Amino acid sequence: MITASASERALIVAPQGRDAIVAMTILQESGVRGEVCVNLDELVEEVKHGAGLAILTEEAIRATDSRALRLWIKSHQPPWSDLPFIVLTRHGGGLERNPTASQLLELLGNVTFLERPFHPTTLLSVVKTSLRGRARQYECRRLNEELESRVQERTSELAAANRQLVEQIEERERVENTLRQMQRLEAVGQLTSGVAHDFNNLLTVILGNISFLDKGLAAAGVNGQLMQRLGYMRTAAQRGAKLTDQLLSFSRRQRLDPKALDLSETIGAMRDLLQSTIGGIRVETSLCHGLWPVLVDPTQLELAVLNLAINARDAMQVGGGGRLVVGTANVTRVAPLRPEEPPPGDYVAICVSDNGSGMTKDVREKAFEPFFTTKEIGRGSGLGLSQVLGFAKQSGGGVRIASELGRGTSIFIYLPRSAAVPTAERQSASIARPTAHAGGRILLVDDDSAVREVTAAMLRELGYSVIEVGSGGAALDVLAAEDTFDLLLVDFAMPGMSGGEVARHVKRLKPTLPVVLITGFAERAALAEVKDVQIIGKPFAEDELAEKVRSALGGRVEQRHAPTLAHPSVIGALVRPQ
Ligand SMILES: Nc1ncnc2c1ncn2[C@@H]1O[C@H](COP(=O)(O)OP(=O)(O)OP(=O)(O)O)[C@@H](O)[C@H]1O
Ligand SMILES: [Mg+2]
Repeated sequence: MITASASERALIVAPQGRDAIVAMTILQESGVRGEVCVNLDELVEEVKHGAGLAILTEEAIRATDSRALRLWIKSHQPPWSDLPFIVLTRHGGGLERNPTASQLLELLGNVTFLERPFHPTTLLSVVKTSLRGRARQYECRRLNEELESRVQERTSELAAANRQLVEQIEERERVENTLRQMQRLEAVGQLTSGVAHDFNNLLTVILGNISFLDKGLAAAGVNGQLMQRLGYMRTAAQRGAKLTDQLLSFSRRQRLDPKALDLSETIGAMRDLLQSTIGGIRVETSLCHGLWPVLVDPTQLELAVLNLAINARDAMQVGGGGRLVVGTANVTRVAPLRPEEPPPGDYVAICVSDNGSGMTKDVREKAFEPFFTTKEIGRGSGLGLSQVLGFAKQSGGGVRIASELGRGTSIFIYLPRSAAVPTAERQSASIARPTAHAGGRILLVDDDSAVREVTAAMLRELGYSVIEVGSGGAALDVLAAEDTFDLLLVDFAMPGMSGGEVARHVKRLKPTLPVVLITGFAERAALAEVKDVQIIGKPFAEDELAEKVRSALGGRVEQRHAPTLAHPSVIGALVRPQ
């Protein structure tokens, strides 16, 4: 480190005679610090610690090795420095008379020759001039260093700003991507829900008429091949209904019937079902105790877990050391990175992991899209994960895939933490089935004549008297004219006045008249506005219709009930044979 006093000192090399003492004395008297060096090598060492100038005698340069000094001046002297030298020459040492003077000029650069004997004032004035010049060099160095540090500061500020900008651009691209993806899924969702709605109407007609044919053929004593063919038709139509259900799940318009659940209990109770579904592959559970409660539809949840388990089975070699683990845990999620992930908050996670084939990046990106499948024709419809995503999103949560090709897959379903307290008993999928003949007069409203016809026929079979109309307006007219109805059964999605609007009018005009809404999908916001109505989903079986109508009528019409009959589990029907 160069101190202020070191940078102002004069280094003197005058090994012979009294020159050094004389120079020191003159400098001391005028307050300039002087230091004597024994030779040029010492001078070079001292210069490194700072010096204002160097005073050399001509003989000192000639008598000693000047290579170190030459090296320092030419190569090691910092760029800001041009050390002033004063060379004391002998009498007649002027450039024109002294040939070595020009060599010294070339060697030392910034040099002043002073012929001995000199007057002290002459030496002092040359020393002071040199020191002033040297002070400027030091000042230049300081300014230069300051400038450099400012440039560095500014450069790092710019680099930081640039980094921030890049981060912001990346973040914006990510958000835009997520938004685009969400809009795309939303558009596909709208499309699928429209298709599903129409298919539900068709399936209601097909399944309803199959059931009539079934009964008619049985009554006529026909069985055997014809009955078998009817069975095939019913199975195909039921499979269609299942696909439609998955479409509705994806478009988040599934009718959900949320219950407060402890998911560890729910998954624990599914273990046998999972094992029998995926056959020879080992099923393990890792269930966390003290899970937060969630408020979700148990049937859709079971469907989602089964869809994941079936996918895992398909990705693993049966009998090849395949292992499926279903786990549960409480998790707190931060901001989502992908559109399928849940918003920040507390969730209960279900994780279904396998050690199967895993997915490529491309498959991972598209896996949740409806109809995306890598399975051969007839093996997969590409709706399993769409149902899982739709269910999770409609329940207020989300999903996430972690998968690596050749190493397996984990899919997480996140369901929002709820304050609701789970009830101990699990919901049974069984429903009561009243047979004929209840009594009562029903006003049936549906714009689709085929659906209306088959629904009316079912109701008549059940012993009700049915008046059919094709629009909400017509229904209100009939109700204004007649006061003899026990129940209004009305389709939700109708052109003009919707079933919801009809129900609201009727609740105002005839508050005691029970209303049942038929709907292919849950327009949740619209349905939430309609109070005190029962809802039945399309396509419905005769026994479901009977149960809904009976319970809506309540004590209004005296009824005779047959013993209850268990309805086959929805879940059981989902499992595709291998
Ligand atoms: N556990 C898994 N391991 C590897 N790939 C998977 C896994 N789960 C899903 N996939 C991939 O994602 C695709 C979409 O899955 P999805 O469940 O939506 O449809 P699918 O299984 O092909 O048909 P579906 O479930 O309707 O019968 C699958 O075809 C498969 O390529
Ligand atoms: Mg699947």
